[in-house]
Amino acid sequence: LFAGEITFVKGVVAMDGLPAADRPEMCFAGRSNVGKSSLINALTGRKALARASNTPGRTQEINYFDLAEQAFLVDLPGYGFAKAPVPVVEKWQRLLKSYLQGRVTLRRAFVLIDSRHGVKAVDEEIMKLLDTAAVTFQVVMTKADKVKEQERAKVLAQTRAALQKHPAAFPEIVLTSSEKGDGIATLRAIIRRVTLE
Ligand code: GTP
Ligand code: MG
Repeated sequence: LFAGEITFVKGVVAMDGLPAADRPEMCFAGRSNVGKSSLINALTGRKALARASNTPGRTQEINYFDLAEQAFLVDLPGYGFAKAPVPVVEKWQRLLKSYLQGRVTLRRAFVLIDSRHGVKAVDEEIMKLLDTAAVTFQVVMTKADKVKEQERAKVLAQTRAALQKHPAAFPEIVLTSSEKGDGIATLRAIIRRVTLE
């Protein structure tokens, strides 16, 4: 991505624990299990930098990664169903929303949508919140390897239509597979561009 090291900075559990807002950052948001942590690993070329798992609700903190001291990549807890106690889930959902609304250095949010499932009501809710906060967001379709071409086209059309309603949505949708590597180079280029712009 950039010449230099990619390191884990910290896991944040409250807004006052966020690192100094001294560089641009991009975050990865999406429903639990959509593939946020896996995508960060694919982008950084590090197998286990972010912890991924088949259990929805794996990431429970806001995890900061430093990109060669030029930018932060931020792995967020998922929204929607999670295998964790309700009060715990509610706490991290509140934190997630405060973060998305209140982080001044947040340059772009990547909103991840499963290529099989398309945009759900909870995704709409997050997109509305980003509209209100005026955070430009970009949709990334995940797990492209899991769908056939015809199904993919259908979900993509549904997603494109859903984005029409959102003024903060960036029009370009990126199709990715963390497993097979599709779209990873494209997304890396976007991260470089957004960091430097
Ligand atoms: P939470 O932290 O629980 O919100 O989940 P997450 O969005 O970080 O998802 P995570 O990266 O942990 O991935 C969830 C599951 O999906 C794991 O079993 C991954 O191996 C799988 N997965 C992620 N990306 C892909 C992909 O591109 N293709 C396939 N086939 N599986 C994937
Ligand atoms: Mg995760």
